[in-house]
Amino acid sequence: YVIGVDLGTSAVKTVLVNPQGTVVCEHSEAYPLSRPEPGWSEQNPEDWVQGTCDSLRRLMEKSGIDPSAVDGLSFSGQMHGLVLVDATGQVLRPAILWNDTRTTAECRKIEATLGAMLTEIARNRALEGFTLPKLLWVQSHEPEVLSQASLFLLPKDYVRYRLTGKYAMDYSDAAGTLLLDVGAKEWSADIAGAFGLSLSLCPELVESFDLTGTLLPESAAACGLLPSTKVFAGGADNACGALGAGVLGEGKTMCSIGTSGVVLSYESNKDLNLEGKVHFFNHGEKDAYYIMGVTLAAGHSLTWFKETFAADLSFDELLQGVASIPAGSGGLLFTPYLVGERTPHPDATIRGSFIGMDSGHTLDHFTRAVLEGITFSLRESIEIVRESGKVITEVIAIGGGAKNETWLQMQADIFGADIVKLESEQGPAMGAAMLAAYGSGWFASLAECADAFIRRAEVYTPQPQQVETYDGLFGLYQEVYGQTRELNR
Ligand code: XUL
Repeated sequence: YVIGVDLGTSAVKTVLVNPQGTVVCEHSEAYPLSRPEPGWSEQNPEDWVQGTCDSLRRLMEKSGIDPSAVDGLSFSGQMHGLVLVDATGQVLRPAILWNDTRTTAECRKIEATLGAMLTEIARNRALEGFTLPKLLWVQSHEPEVLSQASLFLLPKDYVRYRLTGKYAMDYSDAAGTLLLDVGAKEWSADIAGAFGLSLSLCPELVESFDLTGTLLPESAAACGLLPSTKVFAGGADNACGALGAGVLGEGKTMCSIGTSGVVLSYESNKDLNLEGKVHFFNHGEKDAYYIMGVTLAAGHSLTWFKETFAADLSFDELLQGVASIPAGSGGLLFTPYLVGERTPHPDATIRGSFIGMDSGHTLDHFTRAVLEGITFSLRESIEIVRESGKVITEVIAIGGGAKNETWLQMQADIFGADIVKLESEQGPAMGAAMLAAYGSGWFASLAECADAFIRRAEVYTPQPQQVETYDGLFGLYQEVYGQTRELNR
């Protein structure tokens, strides 16, 4: 067996996987998130460690499997979160998370100081969520904290350190810091130097499938595992999500609709420069990359709509009537900018709209318009990927958005691509387990592991008539941002 640990924002999920890729047991433990000031989002790294150990111990107890049968474990981690430790490994302040937005001033400073160098080296724009802006915030607001820091880590790297006693960071997660030279796979002395940061703050870089150590005796006991259990580095949650969906070759693309929505496509060309229009990160696979667009309020838009206007219905009940409404929702158009947007408009202040309301519209029209608006937003990311020269004929659908048939068909019609649903979808936790399986020598490559572990269930094919309708509406949808930007402020 191998274990995948998915260190998320609200909980840690652990899965025990057999050599056929079947999850034989899983367990989750939740932990709190604190918002001490508006826009702030922090967690106590000790809660992650506790949650991970508890989850692993319960997983082992529930499964009844002998710990000696577990070859190794690996991680998927929430990206970008800043953990600062001193020379003795003590955490210096609460972790500042990916969804913390206090760093707008630092982002402006980074863009102004580095100019084009930022997208040439770090390959991404400076967004509030990323790690370098958080480091600069600590530098200017809590200089005494930064002066005590000997290393910065990302969330899963801190948990791995506590389990093994060894520091490391993998390329896929390091890519989300803005301090990595993504193409050269080394820390950027130019970027660190531009802000007076010492490179000694940056941990040793490793591949996601590299062995980083074994469990310390006390952590093995807390986790219900043996000290000989191998611990592999692991990767960013999006990189692990890509592995778990089998995005392991040119043109392979996935669309994940959870609270936020992600379009992610495999990329082998390290020199592709999309000028930060979409994120460009290192993959969990060696010397591979992925490009990724994000819709901030994807599933969140639907949840907000249900809670606000149809709280007494279940999601299934709400979505039941959608199939009988024609494509285009009778002229009703929704933009999902409820909490701002990332791709293609990195704009924290834009807000959403319903356009074209008619007295004949019903709850079903509005629900369909919400689904269409979310899907149009994701198509904007698909189009950026297509503009980079990629031919996307097939998209693997995962997350909550892959649970409803009408929405899956809608994705096929709006994206103009086959939509593939997987048989049993475990998301990033499966990607983490795959890293442990490959690292343990079960397979000759990650692709071979994906072939063995990931099974397709259904394919939804674009329907020409609907594709034509949606192509027309997509043009209208794209106009709404520009037309409403000023009105929205
Ligand atoms: C990616 C991002 C999120 C976090 C969530 O850029 O901010 O997907 O990784 O954990």
